[in-house]
Amino acid sequence: MIVAVVGLGKIGVPLAAQFASKGARVIGYDVDGARVADIAAGRNPIAGEPGVDELIASAAGDGTLRATTDARAAVAEADVVVLIVPVDVDDGQRPDFALLDAAVDAIAPHLARAPGGPLLIVETTVPVGTTRGRVGGRIAAATGRSAGSDFALAFSPERVSSGSVLRDLRIYPKIVGGIDQASSGRALAFYRAVLDAEVIAVRDAETAEFSKLAETTYRDVNIALANEFARIGDGLGVDVLQAIEVANTQPYSHIHAPGAGVGGHCIPVYPHFLRAAGERGVAAPAAAAHDGPQRHGRPPPHTLAVTAGGATPLISAARAINDGMAAYAVGRLGDALGTLAGATVVVLGLSYRAGVKEWRHSSAFGLARALSEAGAHAYVHDPLFPADEVRACGLEPPPRFPLPADAIVVQAWHPQYRPEGECAIDFAAFAGLRAVLDPRAALEPAAVRAPGVRYVGVGR
Ligand SMILES: NC(=O)c1ccc[n+]([C@@H]2O[C@H](COP(=O)([O-])OP(=O)(O)OC[C@H]3O[C@@H](n4cnc5c(N)ncnc54)[C@H](O)[C@@H]3O)[C@@H](O)[C@H]2O)c1
Repeated sequence: MIVAVVGLGKIGVPLAAQFASKGARVIGYDVDGARVADIAAGRNPIAGEPGVDELIASAAGDGTLRATTDARAAVAEADVVVLIVPVDVDDGQRPDFALLDAAVDAIAPHLARAPGGPLLIVETTVPVGTTRGRVGGRIAAATGRSAGSDFALAFSPERVSSGSVLRDLRIYPKIVGGIDQASSGRALAFYRAVLDAEVIAVRDAETAEFSKLAETTYRDVNIALANEFARIGDGLGVDVLQAIEVANTQPYSHIHAPGAGVGGHCIPVYPHFLRAAGERGVAAPAAAAHDGPQRHGRPPPHTLAVTAGGATPLISAARAINDGMAAYAVGRLGDALGTLAGATVVVLGLSYRAGVKEWRHSSAFGLARALSEAGAHAYVHDPLFPADEVRACGLEPPPRFPLPADAIVVQAWHPQYRPEGECAIDFAAFAGLRAVLDPRAALEPAAVRAPGVRYVGVGR
């Protein structure tokens, strides 16, 4: 079996390594020549992913894994093509399909012409209807080849987390939904061959697409509730973290943790896909592929039937609450210091969470903005990002580290910052330090408190 992986990013690289480890011949395709060159040389371009270095070295060494920037070379002979190129939101919080569309357009003319055609699987998280309508529709428009008759088409959400991809691939059930029964069946067989996890087939591609949006939106709404609890508790002087911990000893209570917001390119993004669909009043195609007449021979629908929808007050409120938490946390720091005007503040961690080099939608941006608006001088430090990469994100790295500072904000408590890490933080080394804001409760308050230094938490 020849498998093409389109998009050699944090998820595509471990996926390619996993498929190769199960005996597939894998070709990775990416527009980033440096990533392709790394893989061709047997090097893993993605740091911090346990087990992947070894798999890449061995699979590249014995020729089972190759990589290319040439779309034709990648897919012309592929039996299976897995798309894992991101869909983000634009400044107006609308889905931005630019990268996925470009990848689809690049491979469409070169898909194998064998009888039945290849199996194309979208793993990127997408708005409901994208696999059938947008991906299938673009290929049909560009090549005249129809999903269902000329090639199989399915969606399978990628549910793993950066930093534990191979482990997650082993233990999280894989959800699969095709645009028709044949596509579902082929996708089911593929994942059973290349994964050890249980594989679950759902009714259609749209159900599989929705499942990922439901999972991520649930987490966003849950975190918003925890944040609301934190604000109430802060007003009452209650330790909400402890209250949540003991509340969760009841088996139906799964309250997440408060913080300074929600980052990364998943949880803060995908609720917008549902919100936009709800507000447009647009649902998936009315006739499900498995129940209605087969669409073989006809191009997939480009327009979706208006069948349901409406406002999404809960999803929208959760987004607004979570996006407001950076300013709230900075407000608590300001209260502790009296004023932030003229203060020097160092934000530790550009990453959205500890241990992962990912800046997209990080709360570091909201924290730096709120600090500046309050009149403070905000520096952002991160051991995973060289100073020029911090600057490229529009943020200011500290001129030296440590440096005299009025306050520290712990945004991502990377392992490097911990006592055994190569960038271990000694709060006493920040001359003049008066407060440490720890919105994600990464620290023991007692470890921070020193004469003249206050610990400031959120919900704590
Ligand atoms: N990162 C995560 O923790 C995570 C977790 C679960 C699911 N996912 C899913 O995986 C998707 C990819 O995430 P990621 O973290 O690997 O992204 P990433 O930004 O690390 O990698 C994306 C890759 O796609 C490549 N690319 C961009 N345009 C391309 C094109 N036209 N053709 C070919 N390649 C192109 C980029 O060069 C890059 O290497 C996400 O959108 C999400 O749906 C990610």
